[in-house]
Amino acid sequence: MSSHPYQDPTLPIEQRIADLLSRMTLEEKIAQIYQIWVIPSVPESPQKVKEYIRKYGVGSRILAGSHLAGSAQERSAGVEEINAYQRVAVEESRLGIPILHARDVIHGFRTMFPIPLGMAASWNPARVEEAFTIAAREAASCGVKWAFAPMLDIARDPRWGRIAEGSGEDPYLTAQMAVAAVKGFQGTDLTDPERVLACAKHYIGYGSAEGGRDYNTGEISDTTLRNIYLPPFQAAVQAGVGTVMSAFEDLNGEPASGSHYLLTQLLKQELGFEGFVVSDWASVIELVNHRVAEDNRDAARQAFNAGVDMEMITDSYATHMAELVQSGAVSLERLDDACRRILTAKFKLGLFEQPYTQPGLAEEVLFTPAHQAAARKMAAESFVLLKNEGGLLPLNKTGQSIAVIGPMIHQRTALLGSWTLDGLSEETQTIDEAMRAAAPQAIARRANDALSDEMVRAALSADLSVVFVGESNRSSGENNNIASITLPPGQEELVEAVCALGKPVVVVVLAGRALDLSRVARCADAILYAWHPGSLGAAALADVLFGDTAPSGRLPVTLPRSTGQIPAHYNFKSTGRTFDGVGHGDSGSYPERNRYADLPGAPLFPFGFGLTYTTFAYSDLRVSRGEIQSGETVEVQVTVTNTGARPGVEVAQCYVQDCITSITRPIRELKGFQRVDLQPGESKQVRFTLGPDAMSFYGTDQKLHLEPGKFKVWGGSDCRAEMETEFWVK
Ligand code: NOJ
Repeated sequence: MSSHPYQDPTLPIEQRIADLLSRMTLEEKIAQIYQIWVIPSVPESPQKVKEYIRKYGVGSRILAGSHLAGSAQERSAGVEEINAYQRVAVEESRLGIPILHARDVIHGFRTMFPIPLGMAASWNPARVEEAFTIAAREAASCGVKWAFAPMLDIARDPRWGRIAEGSGEDPYLTAQMAVAAVKGFQGTDLTDPERVLACAKHYIGYGSAEGGRDYNTGEISDTTLRNIYLPPFQAAVQAGVGTVMSAFEDLNGEPASGSHYLLTQLLKQELGFEGFVVSDWASVIELVNHRVAEDNRDAARQAFNAGVDMEMITDSYATHMAELVQSGAVSLERLDDACRRILTAKFKLGLFEQPYTQPGLAEEVLFTPAHQAAARKMAAESFVLLKNEGGLLPLNKTGQSIAVIGPMIHQRTALLGSWTLDGLSEETQTIDEAMRAAAPQAIARRANDALSDEMVRAALSADLSVVFVGESNRSSGENNNIASITLPPGQEELVEAVCALGKPVVVVVLAGRALDLSRVARCADAILYAWHPGSLGAAALADVLFGDTAPSGRLPVTLPRSTGQIPAHYNFKSTGRTFDGVGHGDSGSYPERNRYADLPGAPLFPFGFGLTYTTFAYSDLRVSRGEIQSGETVEVQVTVTNTGARPGVEVAQCYVQDCITSITRPIRELKGFQRVDLQPGESKQVRFTLGPDAMSFYGTDQKLHLEPGKFKVWGGSDCRAEMETEFWVK
């Protein structure tokens, strides 16, 4: 085969792309902006797809069973099959451009880690990076070279099922998790066969869906969009994320997948994103449903000109782009720009040199003991201890009888959470199995079915009970929204009935969102929030409940005391009047928000909150300089002491308020955090660096402002931190 410059790996990528583009026909270019889908229910689909690839090549192939792939476990992507499609592209198409195989790898591949919201609760970016590194290695061993994650949507409404897939309500924490995920997936060299391309999604504002109903309209002011929703995407772009997925929703009057302002002006031009934008599933032709496009041709024109480079699964680009280019409705420059972006990703991944996946490799890579150990640690770090009256936890492994009850104890799939495509339930231990393995002598009675009378009897005959309650994996994730964020029917009553026996009760909550635990919190002695913890979640729960590991997670979302408190977030703005109608809420302690007549303003458990088996005290909060010039940096320092009898990890948090600003701003914002490991009696100084980023915000002019004046700084263990100091920007 004659060798062309684009096939020469020693040449710079730009030169290879220029050569390749010069050889491509219009149809071949259009094929690169198409992400094709082999439709499982259509028998002739594989043949048709292969014919298309043979003729033109194709940009990408999605490995998904259906449009709601996240709600159903699916057969793993087969290496043989992926290689077979790749062979058609590489060996049978004219130019031999390899296919980029894509899949939803959301919180692990075969080894399932906790749902992303749980991972965020670890406040441990290094651990999260490790999780995504493992996910990349496993996915790549099966031929998947592009993962549709991380999801960076800020969520203030836990009714929205996709809150499970993100890092919660805070832009700073989400941005840290974004960077961790991008680094974990992509590493520093994408040609590393163990790395995959990441995809920051869903750009942008998708989490603002009205009423928490998935796909619904969002209305976000420009300043909130830029100050709250944009930072995680900005961080991902700075970390070099290869791709971005455009969102489904209509935002401020424009569908996000058809917005030139959002995709081209803001993302590509202003943030300098050089990768490519893929639409979400059919979100290009959904411009017709939004009634901003007349038909699929018009939708293709709008989305492509807006900046969506590749269309996921629908074929409006493939069908109409040639005519759109010929008629001048789309420029050839724009088509070349999209192709260049997509081809760059393929060259960077080294796909031209190494298009195939080694058969059999997966067996050595998937679900190894090392990956399981990492998932177990990650899960343990994701658990948040919300209540622990009288130091009930940790439990003793001997000397008392423990009833392990509740609707979750025999579940496997539910522990894996939504978006578990490749994780196997049969490899997932149940809670019952893990608890018995950890403390065979203590587990007195288990209720073998879900009948609550049996469970209450089991509780009665034991010294204490651990009640495992929660949601199914299908209650969260895509299109799985709930109207009321209480536990599923009957579970609060079960907890209350067990508590009524007068013996100590620990409640473990497994959920894909923030739930209202008011009734549980009133009667349970201890509460551990465990999200959907993944393949090793049950073992990790036993580790934490029996004290082999201490809990160290902190809430990445506010836990409201009622559905009526939604939207729930700590970083609300200063208002003209606070809860009593006259107070000025930003002095002194963290204020109650403007209240209801029938409900306190404060949430049940605030953002950043979490206990462990020891206690901590903060002292000596100071700033390195009381006065700085604009653009300079301030070091914040605080001493944290372990005041209890056990070792423990504190997540020290730093919040900032810019006191007087040209627009209304949040009452305080997280600007730094650090996990600190402390032995009993030990003290450590924790330092946070506040750079210009931590002091600036976007104004109504859509420009960054760093305004002179006073800044308050708080250090402490959650968003209510009271220890305060200040500095001035001159
Ligand atoms: C739709 C979802 O919104 C998106 O997150 C996912 O990556 C795609 N489907 C592909 O399955």
